[in-house]
Amino acid sequence: MPSANKVLVAGSVNMDLVATVSRLPRPGETLPGEGFALHPGGKGANQAVAAAKLGAATTLVGCVGEDAFGKDLRAHLLDSGVACSLKVADLPTGTAMILVDEEGENSIVVIPGANASLDAPAIAEVPVRAGDVLVSQLEIPVPAVAAFFERGRAAKALNLLNAAPAIAGANDLWPLADVVVVNEVELEFFAKKPVRDRRGAANAAIAARRFPRQIIVVTLGREGVVAIDGERVIERPARVVQAVDTTGAGDCFVGALAARLCAGDRLEEGLDYANKAAAICVQRPGAGSSMPTSMEVDVA
Ligand code: RIB
Repeated sequence: MPSANKVLVAGSVNMDLVATVSRLPRPGETLPGEGFALHPGGKGANQAVAAAKLGAATTLVGCVGEDAFGKDLRAHLLDSGVACSLKVADLPTGTAMILVDEEGENSIVVIPGANASLDAPAIAEVPVRAGDVLVSQLEIPVPAVAAFFERGRAAKALNLLNAAPAIAGANDLWPLADVVVVNEVELEFFAKKPVRDRRGAANAAIAARRFPRQIIVVTLGREGVVAIDGERVIERPARVVQAVDTTGAGDCFVGALAARLCAGDRLEEGLDYANKAAAICVQRPGAGSSMPTSMEVDVA
């Protein structure tokens, strides 16, 4: 029987303005681009879409502007099966300027816009129940994430923090998270330790952990995934695929992990599934529109 629990995401909703280039430019350099496209994005929206397409009953709490991007993004979320609790702010919808090179690597600048006005009262509108999985990231104000996770704690839900992008104000959120997902750059920032390989990632994750039962998951791109769960260090290799665009792959991983933990999977099962889902995501352009369905993951 499918789980009655839900994935609840509080997070950003952005329109991604994506230019494809042969390589990322150096400071001060002008390069001819090869293409341009608008893609739905925002870490919160991407993670909600991933969870919903993988079968979890998913709600996104977020904020958009009263503009064309906001309307398009709401339609994209609803089409993807995400229930929306979207506040409309008197600010432009969030945007992200993204460059993607021939290897599928990217560089991103985010302009928060309406995302900056997501607040605790908006968060309070969504019911939270025991067994739900609450997911958030750091592209919305830290007090909103704190309010969200405090509700999760009170309801005996599972709080999953994707501590991205790495910002100093997020230190206070770590103690509220049952599971933290970071990449190596974010882990270096929060652990204040260099991360060069899987062993270094495990050591830094142990240093960053705030309480013994807190699970830390580190995504390492081509090096796979390392997770710390109590005394255990779980390692998973990356799947070898030809990447077209890595934008949103971390969000796909987080959304997939949340969906599987919500369905009752053990951590190892959730990590394997999330790894498979992210490997499909990187083979497609864009973020929100590159999330796979559960049928695609099942046959991968
Ligand atoms: O994680 C990828 C996302 O980061 C992009 O979709 C962009 O909008 C930024 O939020």
